[in-house]
Amino acid sequence: MPSSHKRALSIPLELPVLTSPSHTAGTRVMLRAFTAADVELIQSASRDPLIPLITSVPSTSGFSEALAFIERQHQRLHSGSGWSFAIADASSDTAVGQIGLWPGQSSRRTSNPDTIGYWIGPDHRKQGYAGAALDLLTEWALTEANMRRIHLYIEPWNEGSWRTAERAGYRRDALLPSWQKVGTQWKDMYRYIRTPL
Ligand SMILES: CC(C)(COP(=O)(O)OP(=O)(O)OC[C@H]1O[C@@H](n2cnc3c(N)ncnc32)[C@H](O)[C@@H]1OP(=O)(O)O)[C@@H](O)C(=O)NCCC(=O)NCCS
Repeated sequence: MPSSHKRALSIPLELPVLTSPSHTAGTRVMLRAFTAADVELIQSASRDPLIPLITSVPSTSGFSEALAFIERQHQRLHSGSGWSFAIADASSDTAVGQIGLWPGQSSRRTSNPDTIGYWIGPDHRKQGYAGAALDLLTEWALTEANMRRIHLYIEPWNEGSWRTAERAGYRRDALLPSWQKVGTQWKDMYRYIRTPL
């Protein structure tokens, strides 16, 4: 993390553990560092048709590749690329997905925004995990990390993702043509934005 950025955003140096408040109705999650016990989740994500195209999850599902992915996540805070959390069920601590906060330079009013990205393993979808995780990390970013505006980029066909964004209070503000390369093709993206309420 560049030292000037750390000062501007009051960012802690260690990965925090974030948990949905106990009064939360519905699904509750814990955001924590990945551990070696989470390898099977990464292997299942490698077999998903989309996740390896939009993340650094390996496209082959070997044990050592999955473990290397986990080790890379531990380096992200210190290399300055951001906060990579495992999304775990708050009751069982079972890892169900990943969510990352990737700081840009929005505190300096440049065009490089702070963004969040997420995925849920194929066996754990439609149980409220993505919505709970995005809500929790967004609140942390806008309060504890002093960020002022978070952007999400979502393909228009991906209703599961844009519904996740909307339930976490994001609003769609643009359709950006040919914005991001997914695999070999440039794809249009919806841009979603959240600011402090
Ligand atoms: C998109 C994704 C993260 C959703 O995760 P999830 O845990 O299943 O989502 P949730 O259970 O929290 O559901 C959130 C909302 O999306 C809706 N939803 C989830 N999957 C959906 C789908 N396939 N189609 C339509 N709506 C869907 C839910 O009904 C819920 O809406 P509601 O609040 O209006 O009832 C998951 O399908 C995934 O990881 N996909 C592959 C990777 C990906 O697309 N990542 C995001 C890239 S921008």
